[in-house]
Amino acid sequence: MLTVALVLVFLWCGILAWRRRNRNKDEPPPLPGALPLIGHIHLLFGNSSQLWDTAKKVCYSSLNAGGVISVNIGPRTTYLVTDPEDCLTIANTCLQKDGFYDFGKPWFGDGLITADVQTWKAHRKLLNPAFNQSILDGFMDVLNEQARRLVKNLEVEVGKGPFDHFAYILLNVLETTCLTVMKVDFSDESLLNSEYVHAAEDMFKCLIERIQKPWLYSDAVFNWSFLKRKQDECLKILHNMSNTVLKKRKAEYLNNKLSKETKDTTKGPKFRPFMDLLLELAIEKGAFNDREIREHVDTILFGGHDTSASVLMYTMLLVGSYPEVQQKIFIELHDVFGDEDRDVTKQDLAQLVYLEAVLKETMRIYPIAPFITRYLDQDVKLRNCTLSKGRTCFLSTYGVHRHSSWGPDVEEFKPERWLDLETLPKCPTAFAGFGMGRRSCIGKTYAFMSMKTTLAHVFRRYRVSGNHLLMISKMDVLLKPVSGQMRK
Ligand code: HEM
Ligand SMILES: *[C@@H]1O[C@H](CO)[C@@H](O)[C@H](O)[C@H]1NC(C)=O
Ligand SMILES: *[C@@H]1O[C@H](CO)[C@@H](O)[C@H](O)[C@H]1NC(C)=O
Ligand SMILES: *[C@@H]1O[C@H](CO)[C@@H](O)[C@H](O)[C@H]1NC(C)=O
Ligand SMILES: *[C@@H]1O[C@H](CO)[C@@H](O)[C@H](O)[C@H]1NC(C)=O
Ligand SMILES: *[C@@H]1O[C@H](CO)[C@@H](O)[C@H](O)[C@H]1NC(C)=O
Repeated sequence: MLTVALVLVFLWCGILAWRRRNRNKDEPPPLPGALPLIGHIHLLFGNSSQLWDTAKKVCYSSLNAGGVISVNIGPRTTYLVTDPEDCLTIANTCLQKDGFYDFGKPWFGDGLITADVQTWKAHRKLLNPAFNQSILDGFMDVLNEQARRLVKNLEVEVGKGPFDHFAYILLNVLETTCLTVMKVDFSDESLLNSEYVHAAEDMFKCLIERIQKPWLYSDAVFNWSFLKRKQDECLKILHNMSNTVLKKRKAEYLNNKLSKETKDTTKGPKFRPFMDLLLELAIEKGAFNDREIREHVDTILFGGHDTSASVLMYTMLLVGSYPEVQQKIFIELHDVFGDEDRDVTKQDLAQLVYLEAVLKETMRIYPIAPFITRYLDQDVKLRNCTLSKGRTCFLSTYGVHRHSSWGPDVEEFKPERWLDLETLPKCPTAFAGFGMGRRSCIGKTYAFMSMKTTLAHVFRRYRVSGNHLLMISKMDVLLKPVSGQMRK
């Protein structure tokens, strides 16, 4: 007993000394409430909705302390930044993602989200052209078709009282993403079924559980845990899907290539799934191997479907909570489409200014990636303090979206603020719904195209009602609803 106590005291002194040695003179203030030895670890305890409540409080603590605070996870000092300009400095100085992202590596490998800086630089350059406007324009038919599919699926709920609209949206957006990314054939039911959706959901639960249990941070311990076995089960399903499709399309690609010259294509934007562009880069230029293609596909599939689906879900809920906003959307849609039920074109999208403002404001109020994380590979000098090299830095999109530069009405849902550039904050990171700096979302334009097309179809057909204040959210890495009830 005494030995244990002595060892603990010894360890603690060592940690304190180590911490002091690593401290800059102008460190940011600490978050109050640290306990001896464990620091703020107790804040991580509790289920995922309690975790979200705590996270929000910590963001406000940071805002009140001037935008930067330090938080101790056991002996590890981390930072939490909510000042937009300081966030931009950090995001563009340190491009390396933090160790927490390594938890996602078994799923995404060296995909853009989890790749180390070297790989990321090379691959981001290769992938950027795959998201250029002419490629995206080729998706409009798919997007319209899928939006109509959602409208049709929702029909059974009309007039029947509250229901969970997220389930409909999530499956629909997953289908859309599988089409645009891999041109998956839905008649092949073995590929895309609820098994994949559940596996993705369970995988998130594994990730968040690991984050909440610091003793599982080390692979050496984690590899022996029950959680690892559960995670491997999920990964088997997730990887099987992308590997199967990859094999199929690679064969098709090689076949098509042979007969390409004979039947050259029509004019105008042509639909080409992302996977074909990756295959082209791989086969013609030797840019990727099969594993890397699979990892990019998994990353884009995940990055593309879960995010857009959540934003659509929150948007419909908020629109349902604010009748005057719904009325303005209705008027704008009527101005653009009249009473017609025609497809949405890319020219229409440019005119749906208010709808886009509603989407942005939703993402400001409910940033579905409330934190992004960077590894500080150097000391970073901020305006009022200096962060130390070697530590983890949380950049809080949730906090940044509640910064005073948004004005006194920062807590209100007010899409109109986006219509007047004068009233918007000047700092480019003040809105961080798609991440911050050079490593921000590659699919932003795609996301707006698909979300606006979906909502244009839905709101041309339906009125919705709901109350977002009744919804409980949780943090499953991304911000998620515990229940997504709404009435139609
Ligand atoms: C409303 C929808 C979306 C939201 C809110 C969103 C949000 C984000 C955020 C916050 C990041 C930065 C992550 C970080 O710094 O750790 C990110 C990165 C990324 N997103 Fe999105 N995203 C959306 C849609 C999409 C779509 C549709 C795609 C692809 C089709 C996509 C693909 C990616 C990829 C590949 C990255 C990694 C970029 C890089 O590190 O270079 N996202 N997204
Ligand atoms: C988390 O715990 C609280 C209180 O124990 C409970 O009310 C809530 O429903 C739980 N949330 C989830 C997502 O399990
Ligand atoms: C930085 O410090 C100055 C003076 O010490 C203070 O006026 C200012 O509010 C601080 N800024 C932030 C973002 O904390
Ligand atoms: C977009 O990319 C495609 C193929 O990668 C290319 O053919 C096209 O010229 C590019 N368009 C623009 C506007 O960069
Ligand atoms: C992968 O999926 C295919 C069908 O899509 C199935 O036949 C096969 O058994 C699966 N393999 C594994 C290892 O789950
Ligand atoms: C843990 O398991 C993974 C494979 O599942 C392996 O790649 C890794 O090397 C293992 N790590 C340790 C420290 O045992």
